[in-house]
Amino acid sequence: MAKEIKTIGVLTSGGDAPGMNAAIRSVVRTALAAGLNVKGIKRGYAGLLDEEIVDMDTKSVADILQRGGTILYTARCLEFKEPEVQKRGAEILKKHGIDGLVVIGGDGSFMGASKLANLGINTIGVPGTIDLDIACTEYTIGFDTAVNTAMDAIDKVRDTSTSHERCSIIEVMGRRAGYIALWCGIANGAEDILMVEKYDGDEQRIINNIMDKKKLGKKHHIIINAEGIGDSYGMAERIEKATGIETRATIIGHIQRGGSPTCRDRVYASAMGAKAVDLLFAGATNRVVGYRDGEFVDYDIQDALQMNKGIDEYMYEISKRLSRQ
Ligand code: ADP
Ligand code: F6P
Repeated sequence: MAKEIKTIGVLTSGGDAPGMNAAIRSVVRTALAAGLNVKGIKRGYAGLLDEEIVDMDTKSVADILQRGGTILYTARCLEFKEPEVQKRGAEILKKHGIDGLVVIGGDGSFMGASKLANLGINTIGVPGTIDLDIACTEYTIGFDTAVNTAMDAIDKVRDTSTSHERCSIIEVMGRRAGYIALWCGIANGAEDILMVEKYDGDEQRIINNIMDKKKLGKKHHIIINAEGIGDSYGMAERIEKATGIETRATIIGHIQRGGSPTCRDRVYASAMGAKAVDLLFAGATNRVVGYRDGEFVDYDIQDALQMNKGIDEYMYEISKRLSRQ
């Protein structure tokens, strides 16, 4: 028989993402509406180990829907990879009467969630990362806001790049994944998109492309470089030397992680937070919420962690076709 849940905990872990607050609010209010108690665990697994656990009521999540960041704070806690430390985490949860847990974060955070599930805490993961690098889901909380923020920044760089007839290398986040780069590449009409999944390191090809486009009369050359490739400053120096065209590097950085979430991030985060509570209420554990083919779905965490996803070939092909002219 499914374990009856009376008190659920919620934490955010890994890099923050706009929309995490919307998810927290939804978890808290959905749980309260179902007659459950809710506790917020601050600073991810690090705060759990330090017992930074607070009662949450409906007012504690008022006025946060529109705010970036996470009111629960977040952390990376390497010691949580140790089985003994995970056991301590589960004991602390039990001591505080927390029998269900919602973990909002990425793949790393889900590994920790799965360990807690094995130790008797009913646990549900909600995908929160700007990187979109979680295989089981087509949507992750924060990606939409991050690409819109990056897109606006790149538009601005493009203005000055065009005025000076320069080449600009703009580095976007994504850790090892190129989704932010690809989306911005298409949205900003970049001439080149470099991402780990596709780039073969052939800088001469980029240089040739810059020269060809110059001959066609292009007033700028925008290269979107994914963080996983990096070396934007070095690349700018080499390209300027080889082409004779002034080249500047811009690393957009953590601006991409902040700001008020977009409508999509607020709505999907709200839906995912509610779904996580519904799953706990139904007795589920070791599941992760996802969005696929227009529906909110859930998967076993281990199955989800085994899944792979790559760059959409059709999208990549479109980006190349559109930048060719
Ligand atoms: P993300 O959740 O965004 O992928 P990280 O990979 O930094 O971010 O992971 C966030 C946290 O999840 C880590 O700091 C650690 O506390 C926990 N974590 C990561 N990997 C594991 C693991 N193998 N076992 C238990 N906990 C883990
Ligand atoms: O996972 C989100 C992310 O912003 C990645 O894109 C980036 O690689 C990393 O986190 C940066 O982490 P930190 O904020 O610790 O520098």
